[in-house]
Amino acid sequence: TTVYVPRDTTALALEADAVAERLQTGAAHRGQPVDLVRNGSRGLFWLEPLVEVDTPDGRMAYGPVTPDDVPGLLDAGMLGGQPDHPLCQGLTESIPYLRDQQRLTFARTGVIDPVSLEDYRASGGWQGLEEALAMTPEAIVAAVTESGLRGRGGAAFPAGTKWRTVLEADPERPGSHWSGQKFIACNADEGDAGTFADRMLMEGDPYCLIEGMVIAGLAVGATRGFIYLRSEYPNAAGILNEALQRAESAGYLGDSVCGSGRAFHLSVRLGAGAYICGEETSMLDSLEGKRGMVRVKPPLPAHRGLFGQPTVINNVLTLASVPFILREGARSYADYGMGRSRGTQPFQLAGNISRGGLVELAFGVTLRTLLEDFGGGTASGARMRAVQVGGPLGSYLPESHWDEPMDYEGFSEVGGMIGHGGIVVFDESVDMAAQARFAMHFCEDESCGKCTPCRIGAVRGVEVIDRIIANQERDANLTLLDDLCETMEQGSLCAMGGMTPNPVRSALQHFPEDFQRPAPTAH
Ligand code: NAI
Ligand code: SF4
Repeated sequence: TTVYVPRDTTALALEADAVAERLQTGAAHRGQPVDLVRNGSRGLFWLEPLVEVDTPDGRMAYGPVTPDDVPGLLDAGMLGGQPDHPLCQGLTESIPYLRDQQRLTFARTGVIDPVSLEDYRASGGWQGLEEALAMTPEAIVAAVTESGLRGRGGAAFPAGTKWRTVLEADPERPGSHWSGQKFIACNADEGDAGTFADRMLMEGDPYCLIEGMVIAGLAVGATRGFIYLRSEYPNAAGILNEALQRAESAGYLGDSVCGSGRAFHLSVRLGAGAYICGEETSMLDSLEGKRGMVRVKPPLPAHRGLFGQPTVINNVLTLASVPFILREGARSYADYGMGRSRGTQPFQLAGNISRGGLVELAFGVTLRTLLEDFGGGTASGARMRAVQVGGPLGSYLPESHWDEPMDYEGFSEVGGMIGHGGIVVFDESVDMAAQARFAMHFCEDESCGKCTPCRIGAVRGVEVIDRIIANQERDANLTLLDDLCETMEQGSLCAMGGMTPNPVRSALQHFPEDFQRPAPTAH
């Protein structure tokens, strides 16, 4: 019998290793040895560790399984696929949370052994690369353009346009050591609180990212790539490095990709814990071995990026969407979505939510569907009050905005930002003035310090919000805060300072009552 126990960080944090150990020894002890596969996570985090058992009807799911549950599960006939146990969730594919998703990018995550080349190939892996190897660079870029794929890091810039810019950029820099070189840099610095899609993919399906990067290299003429990975993801680093080694041994990376005579070399570089190094130009500084500071644009990284050479910088999810597009055809991807937002978005449900996890769906879904049908309401059981979408620089949205279809353009019209797809939920106990203060404080902590509106504005922002909360010269301070937000929006060099006003303004606009402390009563 084949049994699957995830090796994803979320499952490991919930004792998946001990569960695997006890399953193996317990099964052997009962004379029923098992084939243990350490897969990635399916993204149903409230059921982790989610143990699956192969049956003739498909995989049977059990979760959340603690090490102490294992003997009881084995006694109840788990290995025979007996669903008669309170932890049995039925067939995995039939769990509504998973069944009702549209998994294109995450089709394989949680299903296969992440480092098994056989599993990857057997599930359609490398077919996109094979297609790309038979195409001209222009045709690959055209396919990505036609798919409508936009940057999943948050800015939603058309990937095909970015790739075309790099394809057409001149890499000759007389006198430079790197003259003639183009690069692919994958941004895996996933710093937004409440997001984990990049990590889940890298831990669950690393070859998908690797394949996407090789295709990007072929498309723009880059022979070298880097994955800039946050050091807070040591498990992802281990899995990626193992996958890179195996892919190289099997000829998918190196001097001659699949014997084509075209080179692509790929390695992982670790960050050092700065949120700002997720901003693309600071990331380049950090990759070059410097302190991460934001660079002035232009020049765009597409023209002068890593070591001054033309560079494609894409998020993990953008690059991991590419193999599907090349394998199935651009139209198959573009068929999903609405308006100018094509394909699917991996949403991440976090915070005070009953069923946290990853939900990949075509653009156009509403927040309410995500929060209620998938998320199942708050974990606390109290009324849901505010939702922050798009990371710590995203707006707080009240219930009146939960029915808008989510596509990049439409959602921004109501003041929202899909960003990297993170959704953090708060119940009615939240203090929105404290959240607004936190936004400024976060900016104060994480500012790279290069420009004044952000470096000093964030410090002043905390002070002004403190005065508003304390009811000191309220109207004057509210006007001052508005002015300060405008200065940060208009005058900051990058999104860190430029977007910090989003959570502040939205908290004030939608939850003004939280900024009004009752005046102290005289004794
Ligand atoms: P941006 O709009 O300045 O740029 C988007 C991308 O398009 C960049 O890679 C830029 O170099 C490229 N680009 C722009 N014009 C181009 C052209 N003509 N040719 C080729 N490439 C071109 O946005 P930015 O500052 O890179 O990102 C801001 C976003 O980052 C925010 O909207 C936010 O959602 C997101 N974000 C994501 C985080 C995460 O953890 N994933 C954390 C914080 C923010
Ligand atoms: Fe640095 Fe902040 Fe200016 Fe961005 S906005 S360049 S993080 S100081």
